[in-house]
Amino acid sequence: MRIDAAGNFRGVYPAAQADAPRLLIGSHLDTVPNAGAYDGVLGVVLAVAMLEELRGRRLPFAIEVIGFSEEEGVRFGAPFIGSRALVGRLDQALLGVVDNQGVSVRKAIEEFGLNPKEISGAVLENDALGYLEFHIEQGPALEKLNLPLAAVEAIAGQSRLELIFLGHANHAGTTPMHLRRDAIAGAAEWIGIVEQMAQEIPGLVATVGKIEAKPGASNVIADEVRLTLDVRQSSDEIRTRAVDNLIRQARAIAARRGLSVRENTLLSQRAVAMDPFLVGEIDKAIVKTGCKPHRMVSGAGHDAMILAEKVPSAMIFLRTPGGISHDPSESVLQDDVEKAIVCGLHLLDQLASSPEFYKRTNCA
Ligand code: GLV
Ligand code: MN
Ligand code: MN
Repeated sequence: MRIDAAGNFRGVYPAAQADAPRLLIGSHLDTVPNAGAYDGVLGVVLAVAMLEELRGRRLPFAIEVIGFSEEEGVRFGAPFIGSRALVGRLDQALLGVVDNQGVSVRKAIEEFGLNPKEISGAVLENDALGYLEFHIEQGPALEKLNLPLAAVEAIAGQSRLELIFLGHANHAGTTPMHLRRDAIAGAAEWIGIVEQMAQEIPGLVATVGKIEAKPGASNVIADEVRLTLDVRQSSDEIRTRAVDNLIRQARAIAARRGLSVRENTLLSQRAVAMDPFLVGEIDKAIVKTGCKPHRMVSGAGHDAMILAEKVPSAMIFLRTPGGISHDPSESVLQDDVEKAIVCGLHLLDQLASSPEFYKRTNCA
């Protein structure tokens, strides 16, 4: 087991032969505030459980299990930091992004006892055959269909921004309404537009999930509001057009209210198709497990969308009771987890005996 310089936990189950290529299986180990127990970590534990079930049996490829760091983007606002390191995208700009306390990604890595100068050592070598990720669905679709498992065929794109509305602090009791430059009132007007736009554009979801106001007293008009914006849609064009429109609206509101507004784009991640061959193999493995195959698009982001830039990638979703995630009541059914392990073992056997699997990579 090793921890690479981006804080990813990585362990290798050896192949039958020493110089064999490797299959990557993983998910993330970080989570959100007041989280559930399964988003991310289930995929890592499930990979380890699958390897235990192999009971030492060697395959023609090695299996590297990866527990990714910083997928959610909670601390720095920028998600997928660990997986971006594997595809060579943890660059100087991302290392320079700071958290609420002004601590940069670079500094956080150092404080964790790792060396940011060694980030290049985290990059995938060209012996990776593919990437698989098990994850809870985090939505209601599979429960509604009464299905335990599904293959993910695409992951919706997402934009993440920070917006800062700046006004002027003044006394809440003495400043007439028409003389105010109230950053909270401006931000609130804009948040209403964010929700309205998402309700009007089919398939668009937009969220302001975090807001901070300064100076932060009930009798002082706020002079600064920082908030986050998260926008997703399966069409990149609709998503980016919506983001541009929301920025224009924020500027118009700010101008009318005597405020200024700045925006900082932390992520504009395009929608990503999963590898058709692997998706087809997952369908077959689900059938061998005794379940009905189903394909779906993921509205949530996953490390698989980053890995897909470099290696054929695919995901297996597990039903999420109540469709609840990012909340302590998030859960999974034990029977579904058992089915996912059985499905994963079928998948490993299918890939081990598939000439197609080796032919399509640069490892043949
Ligand atoms: C990951 O949880 C995401 O925000 O999509
Ligand atoms: Mn999550
Ligand atoms: Mn997740």
